[in-house]
Amino acid sequence: MRKAIISPSILDCDKAEWGAALQLALEGGAEWLHFDVMDGHFVPNLSFGPMVVSSLRKKFPDAFFDVHFMVTDPDMWIAPLAEGSKGSAPGLLSFTFHIEATEPKGTTEATIKKIRDHGMRVGLALSPDTPVEAVLPYCHLVDLLLVMTVRPGLGGQAFMPETLSKVERIRKQFPDLDIEVDGGIKPGATVEAAAKAGANVIVSGSGVYMAKDPKKAIADLKQAVNVTLA
Ligand code: DX5
Ligand code: ZN
Repeated sequence: MRKAIISPSILDCDKAEWGAALQLALEGGAEWLHFDVMDGHFVPNLSFGPMVVSSLRKKFPDAFFDVHFMVTDPDMWIAPLAEGSKGSAPGLLSFTFHIEATEPKGTTEATIKKIRDHGMRVGLALSPDTPVEAVLPYCHLVDLLLVMTVRPGLGGQAFMPETLSKVERIRKQFPDLDIEVDGGIKPGATVEAAAKAGANVIVSGSGVYMAKDPKKAIADLKQAVNVTLA
């Protein structure tokens, strides 16, 4: 049975206040916390890496960390992320990598296995220009499918509605899979369209943290998903 999950992204928060931003998300009822790791190569931007995630992990050992790697070599970061989370309860850490980083090299299954061997949940992401057919063969092997609804690399971009046909297609074939949408999602029309297409995990950065009332924004996002699940 799938449920509504809200995963606020701290990418666009005041970088000196990340701990406070995470605390606010949890107080607002966010189920997951979304971290955007960028290597300056897979996307033309650098954000932070497993070291920063590990420090935040120590402050929030009981929260679910949804870590989205926009990197060229995901395998390189599997052990560092898992090790940085040692000591917190199992099942609270998810490693998402992009299919564009492992195909056409043909290493997708090996990366999935390596993430599992390190005790983490597995997420697979695809960028707007990648056809849904690229990920369909792997959906039964992962816990989460992340459909990018903007081009990866920056927060605060405009939602791309044409990406939702991929959500619809995956949802039809995989009724219980967690399908996450990421980019340009806010309370109102965008989250409603994403939920209607079949997404149950909602990432929102500016939609939460630029809102007048971030806690209300989290509640509104969740309500939009719950309405379609009811
Ligand atoms: C984009 C990131 C997103 C982004 C979301 O590359 O993967 O998680 O920070 O931010 P908003 O919701 O502002 O588009
Ligand atoms: Zn993301």
